Amino acid sequence: MSVVEIDNLQKDYEVGFWRKRHVRALDGLSLSVNAGEIFGFLGANGAGKTTTLKLLMRLIFPTGGSAKILGHDISDVSMHSRIGYLPENPYFYDYLSALEFLKFCGEIFGLSKAERTIRAKTLLSRVKLDESKWNTQLRKFSKGMLQRVGLAQALVNNPEIVFLDEPMSGLDPIGRREVRDLIAELRAEGKTVFMCSHILSDIEVLCDRVAILKKGRLANVGYLNELRQQVAGQNLVEVILSGIDEATLKTYLPAGNDFQVTSIPGGVRVELKEESYVDSVLAALRKSGGKLLTVQPVRQSLEELFVD
Ligand SMILES: Nc1ncnc2c1ncn2[C@@H]1O[C@H](COP(=O)(O)OP(=O)(O)OP(=O)(O)O)[C@@H](O)[C@H]1O
Ligand SMILES: [Mg+2]
Repeated sequence: MSVVEIDNLQKDYEVGFWRKRHVRALDGLSLSVNAGEIFGFLGANGAGKTTTLKLLMRLIFPTGGSAKILGHDISDVSMHSRIGYLPENPYFYDYLSALEFLKFCGEIFGLSKAERTIRAKTLLSRVKLDESKWNTQLRKFSKGMLQRVGLAQALVNNPEIVFLDEPMSGLDPIGRREVRDLIAELRAEGKTVFMCSHILSDIEVLCDRVAILKKGRLANVGYLNELRQQVAGQNLVEVILSGIDEATLKTYLPAGNDFQVTSIPGGVRVELKEESYVDSVLAALRKSGGKLLTVQPVRQSLEELFVD
């Protein structure tokens, strides 16, 4: 079941002061996000990711097309009580403390006083904001600390879908890891996550499906494995051997160009066109007396796919 359906969405920004021109930021985007998945939204700077999220959140209005969230048209903002949103550059009330701010968010969603205090504390510990900072004004926070508060506020109403615009931005490596774990937990709770990120390694470990946006148009969408294979075109397998040199191994391998042998420090690397060729390499290895280190598929990394 799809919980976000985007249909031919288009956005033109008006730029210029005296002579107005239109810049197309989003050009006929259509895609859908299934319930319970972590959907990664990728694209270079200026591709239109933030624009898409702002349109979905009804912060700006589309020039054309339509979209639905949880079955409601995006113009029906009553559905906002069931979703959460972390903006790209969160802008909070600076003079509130983290705890006050979260209680305030809880109040907006109609939580009782007792409920919102509990919720605020639970969320601040969940995003691992140091307890000694809970009563510090937000204007004294670092970028990474604010990002954590931003994430906490996106979850204050226990949303069914969470929209995250660059959730890892400004976080140190430990923070990134913690947020990654948090996002994975959200999926385990049955929530749907729609996230934009530049950090491909995070997308790679987290996301079920990804869409790649290029200059406002959808360039590719699908399951990560499928996308990788689509570009690689074939299932290459890599075998790493030690205690043997390139020339010796080659004398034992069948002739032909199905095996690409290269020397690496301490051994050789053999690239095979198909998994079924692994047996031939093992047979050659047994005859020549080397040692098998690893056998693994050569998968295209998301980075290569993205650059492609
Ligand atoms: N308020 C605006 N007025 C005019 N043009 C805008 C406005 N906001 C965005 N744009 C343009 O729309 C395009 C898409 O911008 P958007 O912020 O959606 O990109 P993005 O994919 O989120 O990029 P980034 O990865 O840098 O966050 C860009 O060309 C940008 O210059
Ligand atoms: Mg952006």
